[in-house]
Amino acid sequence: MAPRSGKTSGLAIPAILSAPGPVLLTSNKAANDAFTTTVDARAEVGTIWTLDPQQIAHHPREMWWDILADARDLAGAKRLAGHFVTASVDESSGSDFWSTAASNTLGALFLAAASHRRPITDVLAWLAMPADRTPVDLLTDAGHHAVAAQLQGTVSGATETRDGIYETARQYASCLLDPDVAAWVTPNEDLPEFQPFTFAISRDTLYLLSKDGGGSASAIIAAAADAVMRAAVIVAERSGGRLDPPALCVLDEAANVCRISDLPDLYSHLGSRGVIPMTILQSYRQGQRCWGEAGMDALYSAATIKIIGSGIDDADFADRLSRQVGDHDVQTTSVSTSESGKSTSVSMRTERILPPDAIRALPKGKVLLLATGIRVAMLNLKPWYKEPSAKVVGPASARATKAITERALAKSIGQDDLGLSA
Ligand SMILES: Nc1ncnc2c1ncn2[C@@H]1O[C@H](COP(=O)(O)OP(=O)(O)OP(=O)(O)O)[C@@H](O)[C@H]1O
Ligand SMILES: [Mg+2]
Repeated sequence: MAPRSGKTSGLAIPAILSAPGPVLLTSNKAANDAFTTTVDARAEVGTIWTLDPQQIAHHPREMWWDILADARDLAGAKRLAGHFVTASVDESSGSDFWSTAASNTLGALFLAAASHRRPITDVLAWLAMPADRTPVDLLTDAGHHAVAAQLQGTVSGATETRDGIYETARQYASCLLDPDVAAWVTPNEDLPEFQPFTFAISRDTLYLLSKDGGGSASAIIAAAADAVMRAAVIVAERSGGRLDPPALCVLDEAANVCRISDLPDLYSHLGSRGVIPMTILQSYRQGQRCWGEAGMDALYSAATIKIIGSGIDDADFADRLSRQVGDHDVQTTSVSTSESGKSTSVSMRTERILPPDAIRALPKGKVLLLATGIRVAMLNLKPWYKEPSAKVVGPASARATKAITERALAKSIGQDDLGLSA
């Protein structure tokens, strides 16, 4: 669905408001969006965890999450490095030499830090000084001899190559250079720790907020969403196969703030475990840019319920949908007049039920539902603000939005006092 066509208000918010179990939401907006609209209602059923490293909601830091918790083995460290790469580059350039080498180096450094419970800020220090032998020693010490040797190889290779690799890795990890961002994912004794495994069996809510684009904290958001979904699957497997109640994971603005590179593969595991992913994209193309053509195809086929709304500008996609909606027989009657009198003939011809141009022109609020085992259906979305509960939810959202503005104002006044604002 195109921008402003009701993805958040008609899909994400109603799903969150009616979720029986834990909820995860990723978003790049705070005021008057899913965060403000659902935060009060969700606070009534469980704890609210807000990871807001770039201060989208100007939310105070009241929690921390250990980003290195899953990086204590090589596979986990590589996944984490992958999130930083995918957040910065498109699928097409994610596999060139520099990206791959930088990703390997980042992975090795994450593993070195995680296996000795060092904070992520150590990784930044090592990135700044490739000659520092500490990570190689830590890796050797933890028994990761092959990774240590590989990192040593990179460090002692040709200077230009080494510097190129390290510079690329520094760019990928650049969001952590901001101490205010890094603080959210660094252990802190005074604040509660967000624990994905506990979350999976709670009725808590995790809000993951970030700006778009490279250099933003979106890698952290993707890593956190990934950690939560994987933890939920593990908990489900331990407790009879499915999470009950199910966990809802709303990946709003998925291509902007939650680029999990193997989301298409994850999809097939999640559904059968009671972990319900809901990936929201502005167009099919946006998904292709993020996961590649094959990846987006895999994601599309793995989703058992697909909803397509207004603003489909892609002619091929509209035609494909039109074919899936199918044909119907139309009866045409023609009347001809001749000397012998009037004659009427009736003929049948097949026509598209919904031609591509009608799909292109779907009005706001109307969507096509493609679900397994049924014919394509046309639905009216029921946005939260048209529901009876809007009497309560609306004012709550307004209050939460006002609180964001007040926190923003309080900050700028604080900066005035320090002479920092422009
Ligand atoms: N509280 C409300 N009352 C009335 N209309 C609303 C309300 N909230 C949203 N809308 C309408 O719904 C439209 C879609 O909003 P929504 O945020 O759901 O779109 P979206 O598809 O998520 O957009 P984006 O891609 O920008 O996130 C808005 O343009 C607005 O007209
Ligand atoms: Mg939205």
